[in-house]
Amino acid sequence: MRSLSRVSVGVIASFSLLAACAQDSGPAATATTAAAPDAAAPAAEADIATRLAAADPEKGKVLFLQCRACHSLEQGGMNKVGPNLWGVFGRKAGLAEGFDYSDAVKNSAIVWTAEALDAWLARPSEFLPGNRMVFVGIRKPEDRANLIAYVQRETGAAAPAAP
Ligand code: HEC
Repeated sequence: MRSLSRVSVGVIASFSLLAACAQDSGPAATATTAAAPDAAAPAAEADIATRLAAADPEKGKVLFLQCRACHSLEQGGMNKVGPNLWGVFGRKAGLAEGFDYSDAVKNSAIVWTAEALDAWLARPSEFLPGNRMVFVGIRKPEDRANLIAYVQRETGAAAPAAP
């Protein structure tokens, strides 16, 4: 779990203060009071542990339909376009038996913690450039948590939340 130094979950919460340069110079710049009428600032993402605690694996099951063409979950399940995912939690990336991974995965130091999976599933191509999983990613943080909870449940990992 702690060997995950390379994963930087990109919580890029850069709240740039729009310091409206109130330089009172010139007649043209007459009181533009339209600062931010609807300040719908995106809330910072809750971390994966918090989201997992509230996650619903049954919702994750539906989300997994997007993965199923490429991944089986059950023990001894076959590799498809992607590797079988049994036992993936807590394991180093690239270790499903008999699957030919990309060099990007093989040479990575990734360990599949919930945190790493969260970043991977948000945008695989960014998390690990050069990998071969053709999947755009899941934008909603709650969706990722639900999906991770489901995968966790189905792949032999100790479930975080009681049933
Ligand atoms: C189009 C096929 C495809 C889809 C869809 C897909 N994957 Fe993958 N996945 C792959 C491939 C291929 C790899 C191996 C990547 C590599 O070697 O670069 C992979 C790798 C992975 C790994 C790493 C496994 C390991 O042993 O290190 C995980 C975890 C994973 N996928 C989960 C998912 C989940 C969850 C979804 C659904 C949201 C999903 N994938 C959707 C093809 C897919």
